[in-house]
Parts: sequence; C-alpha cells; structure tokens
Amino acid sequence: MLILLENRKFEVLEDIYKITKDIDYNFIKPEQAFAVRANRVGSHNFTSMDVARVAGQAIIDAYMESRQKRLKVNLDEPDVIIRVDVIHDEVFVGVDTTGDNALHKRWYRVYHHPASLNASIAASLIRLAGWNENKVLLDPMAGGGTILIEAALMGRNIATGKNRDFAYFKIFGEILSEEHEKEIFMDLYGIEKYRKHVVGATRNARAAGVADTIKFLQGDATKLEGIEANTVVTNPPYGLRIGSKRIIEELYSGFLDSLQNVLSDDATVVIITSNDKILRKYAEVLGYVIEEEIGVKYGNLDTAVFKLYLQ
Ligand SMILES: C[S@@+](CC[C@H](N)C(=O)[O-])C[C@H]1O[C@@H](n2cnc3c(N)ncnc32)[C@H](O)[C@@H]1O
Repeated sequence: MLILLENRKFEVLEDIYKITKDIDYNFIKPEQAFAVRANRVGSHNFTSMDVARVAGQAIIDAYMESRQKRLKVNLDEPDVIIRVDVIHDEVFVGVDTTGDNALHKRWYRVYHHPASLNASIAASLIRLAGWNENKVLLDPMAGGGTILIEAALMGRNIATGKNRDFAYFKIFGEILSEEHEKEIFMDLYGIEKYRKHVVGATRNARAAGVADTIKFLQGDATKLEGIEANTVVTNPPYGLRIGSKRIIEELYSGFLDSLQNVLSDDATVVIITSNDKILRKYAEVLGYVIEEEIGVKYGNLDTAVFKLYLQ
C-alpha cells in the first residue's frame, strides 16, 4: 500500500528529479535509511534504474536542504521505501506502507500446506460469508487451517500484521496495539482427511495464539455429522492433475450432500474453487441457491467464489 505524496505530469527525466525534490521528506528520521523502488510503464528514453537514481539523489538533496543531514541509502533493508512509478507521461511518488513482504504473508505459517490459501483471500471469504464471532464456523476441508485461523484472529481482534517488520511502523513509530485484543472463545471447527494436515493446522493455530478456540478433527467432508454450523467457508481441492475429474465430482457432490446434515436453516456457505462448472452443477441438483458468484484471479488460476444457501 502507498501513501501518495505527489502525482504530476512530466516530460523529461530532469522533471522527475524536480518533482521528487519538491516533496517534504521530514517524516523520515535522520538516522533512518531509505531506498527508492521505481517502476516504469510506457516508452521512454530512460530506464527504471535511471528513475531510481535520479529520484534517490533528489530525496538526498531535499533532505540536505531542509535538515542539513545526508540521508543514508540502504537498498536491501531500508527503513523507508519511496516508490516512484512512471506511467506514460505521469509520475507517482509515494511512501510504501507495506514493505517488501506482501501483506498476505502471515507470521503463523509454521506448517506449509502444499495448497494453502492466500490468507488475505481467506479473510475476504469469511467477511463475504457474513461471519462474526458469535456464529459457528466450519471448514470441512481445512488443510493447514488458514480460514479458521483468520476467523479466530478476526474474532479476537488480533492484527494480522502483528510480528511483521512493518515499513509503516518504522516510519511513523507506531506499534500495533494489543489493548484491543479480546480473550474470547469461538465455535470454530476444522475437518481434514489427512492426519499430517490436522497436526500442521494445529501447529499453525498454536503459532497464531488461537489454538484454544479452534477444534481440528480428522474426518471426511463427505460424511459430516454431529455439529450444527451456520457458516461454512471452504477451499476444496481443485483436482488439477489429469484424470482427477471423476474424483472431484464425487468429492464435490458427496460434500454438498453431506453438508446438509450439519447446516442450520439460516446457514451461509462460501466456497472458492476453479471447478466452477462441477460446483454449480451439484449445488443446483442438491437444492442450494447460488446467491453470488464472484470471479477471482488467483495466481494464474481462474477461480470462482460461490455464496450459497439451502432452499
Ligand atoms: C486446497 S486444500 C485446503 C487448504 C487450506 N485452505 C489452507 O489454507 O491450508 C484442500 C484440503 O482438503 C482436504 N480433503 C480432500 N478431500 C477431503 C475429504 N473428503 N474430507 C476432508 N478433507 C478433504 C485435502 O487433504 C486438503 O488438505
């Protein structure tokens, strides 16, 4: 994420120097080191490395004029990252509030499930399902537990950026406050076919500090029983290997069928899959209503998110 400092049109590389130098950089502390990361879209007679060099010099010169101090540059581990993006005839200068590590990266991933879901997408699915900490959430194909752990963090108000070496906090000197965290227990259930993933999910939940509120059980999503859930959020296998279409059909139909044993009347089901045709087919056959279907580009995969309820 970016806090935009300036957005102007330019003609030549020298203009980028002037535009970048005109900005007030006093939010950078004299002892902090900075780096410029530059990107370029369009046709120009200079490279993005030229942009980074010119903008870097402009920042050093601007700081020298206002604070009489030469800022340090550290390209590998900067405290502050200034992004300078050149898009055709416009330049955008901003402070990066994320840092070089993407926001979906979580500190609790001590067990790496081979098909783990992007944590930011998991959090969005939980929101789409309308879940809150008073509802009973089930993930019947829980894998490494991402969906349930994200829900537990959300319910307890634990910041998902906690424990990150976060660029924003280095700049503005704030720390993520723990005073709003809640010590509450929730009804969060994860079912998973393979024991090693159940053990891995439990390790992840422990690392996240929420193991006491999630129950991970070894079981079969096509033979569900014994609980009543009003929210289901899941990320079933996509079956990308050749010859697995029949297996996926059996899994999806069996799962949607057995899910009816554990859903309360007002339940919401959210599923992300790249097998949209198979999902749609069995959802309709088994009496689910598709309330929403949202296309999500996930890496190089076209996936769909379905929001369903029972008729
Ligand atoms: C795409 S992964 C889920 C990944 C998970 N969301 C995460 O972030 O770690 C799908 C999981 O479904 C499990 N699975 C497959 N068939 C199942 C079944 N019949 N019952 C329960 N789990 C099943 C697989 O073992 C796999 O761990």
